[in-house]
Amino acid sequence: MTLDGRLVVVTGAGRGLGLAIAHDLAEAGAHLVIAERNPQFAASAVEELAAHGVPVHRVDTDVSDPGSVQQLADRVAELGGAYGVVNNAALADGVGGKYFYDIEPDEFDRIMSVNLRGTWLVSKALYPQLRARGDGRILNIASDVAFYGPPRLMHYVASKGAIVAMTRARARDAGPDGITVNAIAPGITECEATQTVPAERHELYRINRALERPQQPEDLVGAVRFLLSDAAAYITGQTLLVDGGFVCR
Ligand SMILES: NC(=O)c1ccc[n+]([C@@H]2O[C@H](COP(=O)([O-])OP(=O)(O)OC[C@H]3O[C@@H](n4cnc5c(N)ncnc54)[C@H](O)[C@@H]3O)[C@@H](O)[C@H]2O)c1
Repeated sequence: MTLDGRLVVVTGAGRGLGLAIAHDLAEAGAHLVIAERNPQFAASAVEELAAHGVPVHRVDTDVSDPGSVQQLADRVAELGGAYGVVNNAALADGVGGKYFYDIEPDEFDRIMSVNLRGTWLVSKALYPQLRARGDGRILNIASDVAFYGPPRLMHYVASKGAIVAMTRARARDAGPDGITVNAIAPGITECEATQTVPAERHELYRINRALERPQQPEDLVGAVRFLLSDAAAYITGQTLLVDGGFVCR
């Protein structure tokens, strides 16, 4: 499943799952644009990714800001235009712990503006480039929480559920242009963002997975590569759960 020379934008690829995805895509020969808000994360990611020997560009981006996202799209156009985008950026670190009746409206809006609106804004801004190719790919990172519905995480869960719904609707909009739109729903993964998740939540996942070992960032990357590849050209509007069978549907 090669992606030789195809330009893929990965948002939030400064660390965590996005960085693991970027490593694997570079391994598959893709050229990369790292669209990350945190400049330190972006710098270290670009340095690491250079080892693969493929072009890796950095465009510091806030996916929730339409102006910043347009600058990203303009830069990607200068680089020759995107083949694909992985909408991975999200507020995923330290967001849990409150019941829905204790979440403040500003906090709800903040999560939605990055996790949901940002995913749409980036896809919208890059869309003319994807359409120009006629075989573009949009891949959204959702979460299995959209299907499980854990407590004390309502705004995040809702943002990920909306990504699943948006993926279906966007697939129908994009189909006539030859573009596929899919999502991947990972389970709780051992990485920086989940270090603050309470031990009992990790344990709940561990004992209820079909596969009992903890999920690692590398467990996700094969599914991403597949959905971006030619092998998945006739798959669209789908959400693929990659969580070791915690949610079986
Ligand atoms: N870690 C998990 O267990 C898990 C499980 C299911 C789904 N996910 C999803 O996977 C994706 C990555 O999660 P992660 O665990 O690696 O989180 P993370 O916090 O480690 O990484 C998110 C990255 O996005 C960046 N970012 C945040 N806001 C941004 C913005 N406005 N513009 C651009 N970049 C921004 C952050 O700086 C960070 O580098 C997220 O969509 C998350 O919801 C994670």
